[in-house]
Amino acid sequence: MTKCVYIETYGCQMNEYDTELVRSILQGAHYHFVNQETQADVVMLNTCSVRDNANRKVHLRVQEIRRARGKQPVAIGILGCMATNFKTALLEDPSLGIDFIAGPDSYKQLPSLIEQVWEGQGSAFDVTLSEFETYSDVMPIRQHGVNAWVAIMRGCNNFCTFCVVPYTRGRERSRTPESVVEEVERLVDAGHQQVTLLGQNVNSYRSGSSDFTDLMDRVSLVPGVRRVRFTSPHPKDFPDRLLTLMAERDTICKQIHLPLQAGNDRILHKMNRTYTQGEYLALVDRIRSLVPGVALSTDIIVGFPTETHEEFLDTLEVVKRVQFDSAYIFKYSERPQTVAARRFPDDVSEADKTHRIVCLNEVQREQSRKKNEACIGKEEWVLMESLSTKKSDTDCQGRTDANRLVILPFKEGVEMGQWAKVRIVGATPNVLKGEWQ
Ligand code: SAH
Ligand code: SF4
Ligand code: F3S
Repeated sequence: MTKCVYIETYGCQMNEYDTELVRSILQGAHYHFVNQETQADVVMLNTCSVRDNANRKVHLRVQEIRRARGKQPVAIGILGCMATNFKTALLEDPSLGIDFIAGPDSYKQLPSLIEQVWEGQGSAFDVTLSEFETYSDVMPIRQHGVNAWVAIMRGCNNFCTFCVVPYTRGRERSRTPESVVEEVERLVDAGHQQVTLLGQNVNSYRSGSSDFTDLMDRVSLVPGVRRVRFTSPHPKDFPDRLLTLMAERDTICKQIHLPLQAGNDRILHKMNRTYTQGEYLALVDRIRSLVPGVALSTDIIVGFPTETHEEFLDTLEVVKRVQFDSAYIFKYSERPQTVAARRFPDDVSEADKTHRIVCLNEVQREQSRKKNEACIGKEEWVLMESLSTKKSDTDCQGRTDANRLVILPFKEGVEMGQWAKVRIVGATPNVLKGEWQ
């Protein structure tokens, strides 16, 4: 009998891509995918472990699924970063009732893990991390959309002291440029106009003599590809060659996500980020001079162990100086296995973390508003992404080259993937309002 599978994805874009790989692997093994957990024989959650609230969300969801299914048989599996972070402890937790777990490098084992559970041989797991698995031989099954994710490298060797990713995803390894280019060619044939190259340190990509700049050069020249983005880079790998290529090549979007994490040198050192405030600011200047008009976004952590108020003010200072287009700001969350968890007590109070995050968010919100307001009156090329918005069926939305979201009134004949010349007529900190030209 064909078994029905339902999968939910949490966490970053890499997990979204991995879910597409899992779909492909399980379809190849004759599983059938359904859109509701109530219709499934096998329910899988592809999980994130980067902060504690990500874990908690999954715990609650598993309990909800168990309750909803009552006595009906269902196998529940945990995939992704929680699987490698907590390993068999997940199977042993009686409040969860998990049947199988598979880490990010074990998805080819999923058909046999599920069979094992289904045949009543007890719970099953594979959380081995590989130095070689890149899934280059698996063709992901994508949901229809304008953008396609393409993982070009997996894992991370940086060991920032707060971060669980090197433990959940293992060592860095890259695909060959040929396999990436081939995938992009297939994506263009299938109608995708934008590709986003993915990696935990996407710009540390290296395969033989090819580095990230060489790969970007090739991918951005694939006939038919209209927009190339990438995420997340590390500030340590931004040669001028890459920035010059970005500036020269029309198909490469002028947008960089440049995680700052903190603006104080003592904290940056304790985080093992390998740059100082001065080096980060110099990089921002170099990026802006070589890629004029580039949009910059960032990630910041407040309340890293021992961070004082004065040290936090250094982060605030960098945010004010750089004037990011947008920023994702997080409270430090202690993660098992990390160096910080082993060596530095989580000693900044919740109240101080809250104060710091509120303060940074306020400053950033005003800056985002200003950046967006500066677009009013301009004409932008927008790639249409959706024929409705979260709030309204009478609006549709797309993105500018800088990745700014633009909301437009729906009009007859508009299609996803269409290019529209749009005049920007309004702005909030998060979105632009456009008029059709
Ligand atoms: N590889 C990416 C980041 C992956 S995690 C990179 O290096 O940019 C995404 C973001 O989550 C990080 O940039 C960081 O800001 C945040 N993060 C990671 N670990 C965290 C922790 N323990 N507590 C709070 N935020 C964390
Ligand atoms: Fe985590 Fe640092 Fe690696 Fe990013 S670079 S995944 S923050 S260890
Ligand atoms: Fe989360 Fe793993 Fe991505 S921890 S952020 S799903 S790499």
